[in-house]
Amino acid sequence: MAGTGSAHLRPDGDRVLVVEDLVVEFPAGRNQKVHAVSGISFDVLDGETLGILGESGCGKSSAGRAIMQLPPPTSGTVRMEDNELTGIGQGAMRRHRKSLQMILQDPVSALNPRRKVKDLVAEGLEIWGVKPSKDDIASMLSAVGLPPEVVWDRRPHELSGGQCQRVCIARALMLGPRVLICDEPVSSLDVSVQAQILNLLEESKERFGLSMIFIAHDLAVVKNISDRIMIMYLGKVCEVIRSEDLASAALHPYTRLLLDSVPEAALDAAVSGEPAAVVRDRGSKSETVELPSPLAPPSGCRFRTRCPLATERCATDEPQLREVAPGQFIACHNVAG
Ligand SMILES: Nc1ncnc2c1ncn2[C@@H]1O[C@H](COP(=O)(O)OP(=O)(O)O)[C@@H](O)[C@H]1O
Ligand code: SF4
Ligand SMILES: [Mg+2]
Repeated sequence: MAGTGSAHLRPDGDRVLVVEDLVVEFPAGRNQKVHAVSGISFDVLDGETLGILGESGCGKSSAGRAIMQLPPPTSGTVRMEDNELTGIGQGAMRRHRKSLQMILQDPVSALNPRRKVKDLVAEGLEIWGVKPSKDDIASMLSAVGLPPEVVWDRRPHELSGGQCQRVCIARALMLGPRVLICDEPVSSLDVSVQAQILNLLEESKERFGLSMIFIAHDLAVVKNISDRIMIMYLGKVCEVIRSEDLASAALHPYTRLLLDSVPEAALDAAVSGEPAAVVRDRGSKSETVELPSPLAPPSGCRFRTRCPLATERCATDEPQLREVAPGQFIACHNVAG
């Protein structure tokens, strides 16, 4: 039976990934620690894209890396197709690594600058002692929209950022993953190529039968690509909601704050249409507000120092996730579902 912090986990269905009570802490000297991720749980169904949304520093990348066991989480469990990944050691983890792949925000630094594209795409498999054929490499390059004859012998510095991200996607797909974790895959790219890479990810998901975890701080991007969205604040989950319900039905005060900072036009921008970032630049009401320190997160509800609805109870009791509508969960004392 799921605990209160994992009430949103689904008991049945084709779950490819189940993460429970994930905690990631980093030592920070003088007996302090950074509470990067503080007991989050989620699952991903076969063929689903789960978006993880939250401001910079809320623990999204730490969660993604902990799922990959790079490094392993401080505590919690990660189950991939019924295989427990936590605490299995390097050797056993290597066997699962193929089915769990990650692409990162900065594709240029993710690629060895001295290697050619053909070798970069092959290198993931070569670690396994498998040398892919030229045809396999060429067809994967075509699948990610890179003409093999043009890019074959190029090195990363001879490619654009968008092309480097395509190489990273090709390299990950060569391994035949079941789950692709995309950590801000378009945040470092020019606005004009963001939509192209998002479209490629959507196409690849269908073509290669993937499930995806899509991590980003950009609400419009996450909404467009995800089936469900998990909103995080300072290492905790605030709300889990279907993407189609986000704009109309989100209830958590933090989700509402995120929504209020994005004009409606940006929310409606299709993945293939005008890039959301362009729309947003024209009318953002958002302001930069500092997150409280993850060295000493607020007691009770971590959002209380910024919450317009905070009451005394919010300082003492930590709100647990509860279902407020089918498929929608919030952690808040003062919002009725
Ligand atoms: N290796 C690390 N050592 C110490 N602190 C870290 C490390 N990685 C991340 N952090 C801290 O953990 C918190 C969460 O970071 P991160 O997971 O990168 O957030 P996000 O991806 O949402 O921006 C931040 O306060 C960050 O400074
Ligand atoms: S629990 Fe309290 S502080 Fe937290 S989001 Fe709800 S009202 Fe705001
Ligand atoms: Mg990050």
